[in-house]
Amino acid sequence: MSYVLITGGSGGMGFEMARAFAQRKHPLIISGSREGRLSAAKALLEKEFGRTVETVAQDLSQPGGAEALHDKVAQAGIEVEILVNNAGMGLLAASEEIDFKADEALMRLNMIALVELCKLYLPEMYRRGHGKILNVASVAAFQPGPYNATYFASKAFVLSYSRAIRHEAKDRGVQVCTLCPGTTRTDFFEKEGMEVPPMADSPERVAQFAYRHLMRNQTVMVPGLMNRLSLLIPTGARIGLSAMMKDLKK
Ligand SMILES: NC(=O)c1ccc[n+]([C@@H]2O[C@H](COP(=O)([O-])OP(=O)(O)OC[C@H]3O[C@@H](n4cnc5c(N)ncnc54)[C@H](OP(=O)(O)O)[C@@H]3O)[C@@H](O)[C@H]2O)c1
Repeated sequence: MSYVLITGGSGGMGFEMARAFAQRKHPLIISGSREGRLSAAKALLEKEFGRTVETVAQDLSQPGGAEALHDKVAQAGIEVEILVNNAGMGLLAASEEIDFKADEALMRLNMIALVELCKLYLPEMYRRGHGKILNVASVAAFQPGPYNATYFASKAFVLSYSRAIRHEAKDRGVQVCTLCPGTTRTDFFEKEGMEVPPMADSPERVAQFAYRHLMRNQTVMVPGLMNRLSLLIPTGARIGLSAMMKDLKK
């Protein structure tokens, strides 16, 4: 049976994307690193939609994490038709204040696991002649971000990598799209020890937008008019605005 696999489907935008797919009756498999959060998300989705949701607990910031997730999904006999590479984390502080191990975990989760999952699932999709991948970047992909340097750089990587493999995949029946949300009201900021920025978007609205535009095979999707307009601000000014995020540190 063809499934939608959503990494980071246990919370925030990933959970709302799981809801968006479940509303359209797609069979779902969600992953996250914390078993408890995953079981809670599974229970909520099954109660709301009356259909079984599969789960795989796997930390994707560890070496081998992506391969282990792929193996567990394969062992369950699940074929992935749509891969949503959504799991991600941020780190807010001046670069020298962030322990390298934390930066390394961020880079593994936001970039290396995403690339590895693309490389594991693309050949299977090519063999079948169809499939979709949605990689979650951010508006942070469009400029450097002082006090959030590795996060912004990781999202620029996701955007560049995704657009490149989209080109490779386009004549082989596989669509690769990139979602670039602006600030969205999830646990993401709490985990960074920050206040949620004012005017943050609702994760449900972002997820519905992402679903619609994925189905239309849009190359890069930026939800929200204000986010799209903000990209018209000169890069130098946007770098200054990004640096102001540090003032939201609790
Ligand atoms: N919120 C925003 O303003 C915003 C804006 C632009 C882009 N984004 C991007 O959107 C994506 C989703 O973010 P969100 O705001 O929904 O964040 P969130 O609420 O913190 O949710 C993150 C999800 O990823 C999972 N996850 C975190 N660390 C993981 C790990 N090491 N291994 C496996 N799974 C892990 C989490 O589950 P566990 O914690 O249980 O592992 C959770 O399901 C991220 O890629 C983020 O960079 C967010």
